[in-house]
Amino acid sequence: MIIICPKCARKHKVNLDIIKVHIDSGKNISATCRSCKYKFPVLMDQIIDSPAVEEEYRAQARKICVTLSKGGVGKTTTCVNLGAGLALAGYKVLLVDTDTQGQSSYILGKKPKAGLTELLTKELTPEECVVQARKNLWILGGGKSLAGVKRIIDRKSFGAEWTLSTAMKPLERQYDFILLDTSPGWDQLIVNVLFYATEVLVPVALEVMPLHGLSEFMKSLGSIQTYRKEISLKYIVPTFLDTRIKGPQALYSELKKLYPEYVCSPIRYSESLSEAPSFGKSIFEFAPGSIASVDYRELVKKVSMNDNAFE
Ligand SMILES: Nc1ncnc2c1ncn2[C@@H]1O[C@H](COP(=O)(O)OP(=O)(O)OP(=O)(O)O)[C@@H](O)[C@H]1O
Ligand SMILES: [Mg+2]
Repeated sequence: MIIICPKCARKHKVNLDIIKVHIDSGKNISATCRSCKYKFPVLMDQIIDSPAVEEEYRAQARKICVTLSKGGVGKTTTCVNLGAGLALAGYKVLLVDTDTQGQSSYILGKKPKAGLTELLTKELTPEECVVQARKNLWILGGGKSLAGVKRIIDRKSFGAEWTLSTAMKPLERQYDFILLDTSPGWDQLIVNVLFYATEVLVPVALEVMPLHGLSEFMKSLGSIQTYRKEISLKYIVPTFLDTRIKGPQALYSELKKLYPEYVCSPIRYSESLSEAPSFGKSIFEFAPGSIASVDYRELVKKVSMNDNAFE
C-alpha cells in the first residue's frame, strides 16, 4: 500500500494492517514524509492499493544529471558534493560518472576496479560494477575505458540513445537519488544521459562568458526534449561566486533575471573545494565549517526539498 505526501508528492510504502488497528480504535494518526519532513494526517481514503503505483514506488529514484558543455564549471565538484551531502542527510545515492576523466571516484578517494564501462558492455553484473564509497553513497565509476564504449554506442544502428537507460534499469530500485556527472562537450554518452535522467542541474561558473554556454546548452536540451518529454531543466547552480569582485555578482544578478525559476543559491569561490579532492574527501569531510560546505548544504536542502535535511 502506498501513501503520497501532499507536499512533495513523494510516494511512501505503508503497512495497512497497522494503520487500520489505530484508525479502528478511533485514533488520529499522522505520517512524516521521509523526503520533505512534512507531517500530515493519514486518512484511509488516501491509501492507494494499486500494483501500478507500487511499481512506480519501487522505481522512484530521482535521476538528476549534472551537465554543461563548457568545461571546468564545477560539474564534478557539484555532483560529488551534492551526492555526499544527500547521503549524509540519509538518502541512498548512486553517483554515476560518465566522464572519461573518472574524477568522481578520485574525489572520494576510491579506485574502483570496474564501473560504467563494464555495466554497459555487460562484462560484469550491475552489482559488481558499483562500489560503496561512504555510508549511503555508491559510485558507478567512469574513466578512460568509456572511450571504447562511446565507439560501441556510435556503431549501433538503432536505439543507441537508450543504451544507458537499459543498462541502469536493474540498479534503480535501490536508490533515492541517481546523480550523473557528464564530461564537457557533447557526445553520444551525454545524449544517453539526457535520455535517461529526468532532471537537469546545470552549474554555471560566474566567470567570463558563462551565459553563452548556458543558452547553447538550452538549445541542445530543447532538441532532446522533442524526443524525450520526461526531461526538464530543474536547477541552475551558479558556481565560483567571488563576493569580493563586482563582475561575478553582476553575472549572478543577470542569471536570476533570465532564469528566476531555476537559479539556486550560489556556490561561492572556496580554496577548500580545490584542495579536498587530493585528500580523497568530500567538502563535508575536508572542511565542514567552510563556506563551500554551507553552500552545498543549501543545495542539498533545495534538491531534496527538505529544509531539515541535516537535523
Ligand atoms: N566553488 C569553487 N571554488 C573554488 N574552486 C572550485 C570551485 N568549484 C570547483 N572548483 C575547482 O575547479 C576545478 C574545476 O571543477 P570541476 O572539475 O568540478 O569542473 P567540471 O565542470 O567537472 O570540469 P570538466 O568539464 O573538466 O569535467 C577543480 O579543480 C575544482 O576543485
Ligand atoms: Mg568534471
